[in-house]
Amino acid sequence: MCGIVGYTGINNAVDILLDGLSHLEYRGYDSSGVALMAEDKINIYKAPGKLSNLIDKLKEQDKKNITSKTGIGHIRWATHGLPTLVNAHPHSCTCGGLTLVHNGIIENYKEIKDELESKGVKFDSQTDTEVAAKLIAQNYAMTKDLVSAVSQTTKKLKGAWAFCVMHKNEKETIVATRKNAPLLIGVGDKENFLASDIPAIIKYTKKAIYLNDNQIARVKPNSIEILNEDGTLAQNKIEYLPFEPMALSKMGYKHFMLKEIFEQPDVVRNILQDKLHDEFNKISLDDVKLDKNRLKEINRIQIIACGTSLHAGFVGKYIIEDLTGIPTDVEPSSEYIYRNTIADENTLVIGISQSGETADTITAIKQVKQKGAHVLIVTNRKESLLARLSDSLFHVNAGIEVSVAATKSYLAQLMSIYLFAIYMAETLDINPKKVQEIKHELLTLPAKLEIVLSNAPKIRELAKKYSGYKNFIFIARGINYPTALEGALKLKEISYINATGYPAGELKHGPIAMLDDTMPVLAILNEGMVYDKVMSNCEEAYARQAKLIGVANFIDDKHKNIFEDYILIPQIKDMVSPALNIVVLQLLAYNIAEYLGKDVDQPRNLAKSVTVE
Ligand code: M6R
Repeated sequence: MCGIVGYTGINNAVDILLDGLSHLEYRGYDSSGVALMAEDKINIYKAPGKLSNLIDKLKEQDKKNITSKTGIGHIRWATHGLPTLVNAHPHSCTCGGLTLVHNGIIENYKEIKDELESKGVKFDSQTDTEVAAKLIAQNYAMTKDLVSAVSQTTKKLKGAWAFCVMHKNEKETIVATRKNAPLLIGVGDKENFLASDIPAIIKYTKKAIYLNDNQIARVKPNSIEILNEDGTLAQNKIEYLPFEPMALSKMGYKHFMLKEIFEQPDVVRNILQDKLHDEFNKISLDDVKLDKNRLKEINRIQIIACGTSLHAGFVGKYIIEDLTGIPTDVEPSSEYIYRNTIADENTLVIGISQSGETADTITAIKQVKQKGAHVLIVTNRKESLLARLSDSLFHVNAGIEVSVAATKSYLAQLMSIYLFAIYMAETLDINPKKVQEIKHELLTLPAKLEIVLSNAPKIRELAKKYSGYKNFIFIARGINYPTALEGALKLKEISYINATGYPAGELKHGPIAMLDDTMPVLAILNEGMVYDKVMSNCEEAYARQAKLIGVANFIDDKHKNIFEDYILIPQIKDMVSPALNIVVLQLLAYNIAEYLGKDVDQPRNLAKSVTVE
């Protein structure tokens, strides 16, 4: 959460900082601010709420007169203190000569604050960040060197941070450091950049240096000096950034979310082109370091993830257990880290994360690595912290996803899990018939996804009809139970409507008490093992006057009349059906939220990368 940027060079810093922040708004939008180095002082501009408020404020102050060439900026997702002006970053020392922006949480800020207050230091905000500004300033007063002051300070801090710090005496200089929070240095010509994430700087440079935990960088227009924790000079390599500025455009769609939903056939095509060409040849996965001997040693699999990625993990359990017979557990990372989990060198732990930055998942993965488990990371960001922690890597390659609500990355995660399960079964020489069947189904997916998307106008009509309801229940069984969870999450997070995903068979054990004609029940049905069972649960809901909406590849004639509405998807085997069903639910959620006038791409209280535990 929170996004930070920095610029020092020959161009106007404020434009570059504001542009960079606009590409980090997915990380938070509670407030924003910039600090700009002037002749003999640092000027700070902040505003609560969205970045547009800061831009308006700067316009009022006549931005043309702001000509600074060095500055830092911040976009906030509030952790400590309300989303107010006073809590907005940058935060400064009492004299105003030193200022900084921070992403992360300083866990021991209270004790540091108490200590500083007892010495007479006054605080303006309720943030954890301000203690770092005050502490660095105190250390700077002694050392007169910003790198040393930052280094001394971070040694006292506990938690996670990425900092960009400026002092008025150190012209054209930004000092940056990080621990368990992302920060990269964009390398330019007579100019350098800092950012929490690539989109903020990709327009300006394709070259970057990633900082390791506890390294400190002194960044100037013509130089980047990086020191290791022990003070020795580091030689981080320059890497080439993986994506095009084009990916950051809505390409004519009203929202990024809609664009990303419609990109899904191509996302699947790309993955297939890369890894699965036909039903007959074995899949090879270059970055998966599990050969037959190692796979034979694996006797349990644990999948850990959060939110939408967790739902992909639930689908993964069905696929992996069915194809390989290896017992597979799935757990939210935030639960996994607070119990004595059983993992050893015979355990394969799969961490799934779109961003590769989710703090809970990072902590969980660090824990299991210490236990000797083999770690496979499934992520959309192959340069992320999680990817760097992996023993094996599956880059889902969905392209940059801007909308806070995950859509195409979910489908790409499902594809990755199908392919990885197939890889395991093929490597272990088991279940060839099932493997071939699933491969066949996967190869038909892009065309079937196009058909589902062509139903968008009908789904939009449904959305209009149902947008007035305050509560929804989504039901399904088997491999589509996670689809019900994910569909409900999509609706909740962007429309703020209360939606719950339930295993259809559980309805009668409690939730059925809530059913009447004010509660639509959306049922996911696929011809196959559980079709009749889900249909019985639909009958039960119908008998309680619930409005039934079906998402199905088949509804038999004698049952059609119990559905108020239904959307038919193309024929597909049960095992692969989550990849089609979810698209209907994404479109339904999108259209309801859009019809209600919600902020679809930036829903309230959320952020795309959740970098706090
Ligand atoms: O980047 P990650 O996949 O680790 O993120 C996990 C969740 O925060 C994320 O899926 C979240 O639930 C999204 N808002 C879902 O749309």
